Amino acid sequence: MNIENNVKTFETVTSETLIIGIQKHHEQMKNWSLFNEFFGEKIDVWLRNGEISTDAHKITKIPYTGVNSQLKRIIFVGLGERKNSTTDDLREVFAAIGKEMSVSKLSDIAIWVESFVTDQIDEVKSAFLAGEGLHLGNYTSPNYKTSSNETDVYFDAVQFVTTANIEEVVSNFEVGKIYADAVNEARSLINLPPNMLTATDLANYAVEVATKYDFEIEVLNKAQLEEIGMGGILAVNRGSVEEPRLITIKYQGTQNWENVIGLVGKGVTYDTGGYSLKPREGMIGMKGDMGGAAGVLGAMQIIGATRPKQNVIAVIGSTDNMVSGDAMKPDDVITMYNGKTVEVLNTDAEGRLVLADATTYAKQQGANVLIDVATLTGGVIVALGNDKTGALTNNEEFFAEFMEAANETGEFVWRLPLTENDKKRIRKSDVADLNNSPGRDGHMIFGGGFVGEFAEDTPWIHLDIAGTSDASAPHVLGPKGGTGVMVRTLATLVEKRANN
Ligand code: BES
Ligand code: MN
Ligand code: ZN
Repeated sequence: MNIENNVKTFETVTSETLIIGIQKHHEQMKNWSLFNEFFGEKIDVWLRNGEISTDAHKITKIPYTGVNSQLKRIIFVGLGERKNSTTDDLREVFAAIGKEMSVSKLSDIAIWVESFVTDQIDEVKSAFLAGEGLHLGNYTSPNYKTSSNETDVYFDAVQFVTTANIEEVVSNFEVGKIYADAVNEARSLINLPPNMLTATDLANYAVEVATKYDFEIEVLNKAQLEEIGMGGILAVNRGSVEEPRLITIKYQGTQNWENVIGLVGKGVTYDTGGYSLKPREGMIGMKGDMGGAAGVLGAMQIIGATRPKQNVIAVIGSTDNMVSGDAMKPDDVITMYNGKTVEVLNTDAEGRLVLADATTYAKQQGANVLIDVATLTGGVIVALGNDKTGALTNNEEFFAEFMEAANETGEFVWRLPLTENDKKRIRKSDVADLNNSPGRDGHMIFGGGFVGEFAEDTPWIHLDIAGTSDASAPHVLGPKGGTGVMVRTLATLVEKRANN
């Protein structure tokens, strides 16, 4: 991306498009540098004639002819009530512009940064939200249509008209772009058809990421998993002709390997349900059952680019969940990596088996706190809908720290309880230590709670993204399909811990 860092004034804009935020109480804008000099009463007239709107997210394009001969159009975006504008609002406003750029095939814009300032958000913070929101909204998912003859236009150049320190504006925009690019990587991974993303493919992708950002990486294959006795992931993989993979990435941000955040991702590349087969309608979309893995890998890309002073380990268990003459059956008893035995009551409750082994491995490799991320249960969708991530935890303090990060990124997370009675039901079996499916009543809690049995006393947060990982329709921050949820929150948590 071409970012010119010398454009401070309206006259020096060489882009054909200028972006301006316009608020209900636009008379405040008249105190701002650009307004009087170049627009004077013009905005008043446009507003009075209803040619531009101040409604939040509303976009209006106005052709421009005037003192700057390069400039061809102004894109106004409504900010609504400026006083109430939050970081979430501004991120969405910029995403709306990003979407408009992709629709109108604009690759090159100038932003009048001052017009996006609110009571709480200065020009520098606005620039971060611009970098993030514009690139989130600009994302389109690749498709495989042979008839498509449209050439994609990528957003690749930006200029800033700003009264703030231009270097700070540019660097904040760049960090915002790093965040969005990582989310978009996760989205594309989720959107890949399952015949194009096997566990082996996912591991190869992780190796590419590790090479790019100079991470230490280990990929264990089936023979190696058998050798160390990872009975959970192997049981899920039994019915498949594709090999499983356990992917471990280490980022060492401090001198010693201590105070390590462990990120554990569910990387089920396709979930048929196994012998507890899903109904045909319920199977569609199960290519996205690696959304947790995508979230963790996305966060690692932000960490790789921003290099926080914080140690992080990512562990991803990857396999598909298939049927064959050899597949795991209900009634099977399996032995997990940590030695605990599990009675399999439902082969469709496979994610917890994969996560449990990955969690044990993360602990062994030195994780002092754990966050697992998974498209784990339909139950979370019943409980919270498609726009909230469900959480469980065994540690109030760690959860409060996590929620600060989630509030900053605007990713909605809601905690559900995990009681002693719930744990009793997970531990109830005549033949084994645990069972993998205690019932359908409140079953989000049983899914996450099962993983908690393997986190043991280590501070742990479970994030069930079954509702939030895949959007069934376009939304403010992006199109239908993979959302890349939790990428930004996980990276923000790591960054916050590094700065504390
Ligand atoms: N991958 C599914 C959960 C899921 C459902 C993700 C819908 C995305 C959208 C998971 O492996 C699963 O099958 N869960 C079962 C658990 C049940 C058998 C206890 C479920 O939610 O029905
Ligand atoms: Mn399943
Ligand atoms: Zn699944």
